[in-house]
This record gives sequence, C-alpha cells and structure tokens, in this order.
Amino acid sequence: MTVSARDMVLAARKGGYGIGAFNINNLEWTQAVLKGAQEANAPIIVQTSMGAAKYMGGYKLCVDLVNDLIDSMGITVPIALHLDHGNYEAAKACIEAGYSSIMFDGSALPFDENLEKTKELAAICKDRGISLEAEVGAIGGEEDGIVGMGECADPEECKAIADCGVDMLACGIGNIHGVYPEGWPGLRFDVLDAIIAKVGTELPLVLHGGSGIPDAMVKEAVGKGISKINVNTELQLAFAAKTREYIEAGKDKEGKGFDPRKLLAPGTAACVDMVKYKIDVFGSTNKA
Ligand code: G3H
Ligand code: ZN
Repeated sequence: MTVSARDMVLAARKGGYGIGAFNINNLEWTQAVLKGAQEANAPIIVQTSMGAAKYMGGYKLCVDLVNDLIDSMGITVPIALHLDHGNYEAAKACIEAGYSSIMFDGSALPFDENLEKTKELAAICKDRGISLEAEVGAIGGEEDGIVGMGECADPEECKAIADCGVDMLACGIGNIHGVYPEGWPGLRFDVLDAIIAKVGTELPLVLHGGSGIPDAMVKEAVGKGISKINVNTELQLAFAAKTREYIEAGKDKEGKGFDPRKLLAPGTAACVDMVKYKIDVFGSTNKA
C-alpha cells in the first residue's frame, strides 16, 4: 500500500539527504521505478502529471496500478503516489481517487488565489493523512504542457505559503524543466538561502527539473535543504536511447524480437539503473 510522503521527506530534511520523485508514464515505467527503489532499499515518490495519468487511463487506475504492483512485486520500501503539477480540480480528484500525496501547482495563479487554495487543500489533506506540496515561482521550461519562465521565488511569498501547513514546498531557484540550455547559469543558491532564512530549516523543499543538473550541484542543494528531487526527462532519455539501440541493432527483426515485452525491456532496464543512480546521488540509498 502507498504511504503519505510526509514522514519520508521530513526524515530526509533532518538527515540531510533527498528523496527521489520519479514520474511514471506507463506500466513498464512503474515497474522500473519500483524495482529501482527496492534494489536501492530506498523510500521514493512515484508521481504522475495530469497528462500522464490521463494517458495511463485515469487517476483511479494509477492508484490501483501502483498498489497492485507493490503487492505483486513484493515491494517493502515506502512508496508514495503523488500528483505532480496538479491544478485545483486535479488535486481534489486525486484526493478522492486515493493518491497518498498531491502537489497543488498554483504558481501561475495570482498569489492570493494560490494562497487561498493552498490553505484549503492543506486542511483537507491534513484531515485525510495525505501529504501536500505547493509551489511558489513558476519553474522554467515545459512540463506536460505547463510552461514556466523560470522565476526565482519570493522568500516572503514562500513563507506565506509555508504557513498554510504544507508538507513540502517547491520554489523556483533558477531550475528548469527538461533539458538545460547551453550556458545555464546554475541554481541560485543565494535565493535558496534567502528562502530557508524565511521558512526555517525544518520544511522540506522540492527541486523540480532535476534532470540534467550536475550531480555536485544537486548534492549541494540537498545539503542546504532540498529534500525531494523530481526526475522525468532523464528517464525518458535513457529509455529512448536503449530502445533506439535495440532497433538500430535490428533486434526487432530477430525471432520474436518484435514482441513488446522484448522491445521495451532494454529501455525499462535503463530506467531501473537510472533510478538507482539518482537515488545514490540524492543520498537515500538504504534509507528505507
Ligand atoms: O515535475 C516534474 C519534474 O520537475 C521533472 O523535471 O523532466 O526536468 O526531470 P525534469
Ligand atoms: Zn516539475
């Protein structure tokens, strides 16, 4: 059964390590992410964007898929099922569907509306034992149709949202969704320090756009107070590269190499390796 992300990110914040949050897109992705976490003996967050959940067949199916795989794969490490970049309606729908954690992304809304809706959802989530992530300062790049310009969050606004009683706070610190452009100046640790000075040293902070940030920079961010790191693109790139290799080697033409269980296997295995690699960079190997 999935669990709230609250305890795992609080333990990460106290312990100075980070929890991997991996986006899933289909059955194979879900199996790969769970297998990687179990082999690394690490707690993780499995997350769906609104678009990925729709693609997979809806929020209820995602809940059943993850919980049934936890059983059938004999997963024993803590797993949270999280809505990624949810709007207000999706947040409510996932609470009803049985997600154990949700993100309400109100960063594109007028701040007062973001505050009001975050406050309301925080009360509901507390009642239901579900963890809540909120966001201040839109993350750059494009995530499943959500486009942001990469604002740096305002520490005062972060404090106001934190005081709503959220369990995790995503804040723009120069991070970008997707592949980082040439010449990207790096994360704004000065902004991260200013945010922590306002929200305190106990609130777990979230780093979006985790793909493509140099490992040393991620470790520095985790050391400062980032407790959840989102990764999607780098798994997609690893999967695509291995699948291309398989096809270019003509493996799909050998015997029953066209069988999807064979064709998707190299990419899926690459996802398992990437999950374990990232968990190690974040410092949560053997933290289950
Ligand atoms: O919310 C999802 C993430 O922020 C993923 O970002 O695709 O750059 O790893 P990424
Ligand atoms: Zn994101």
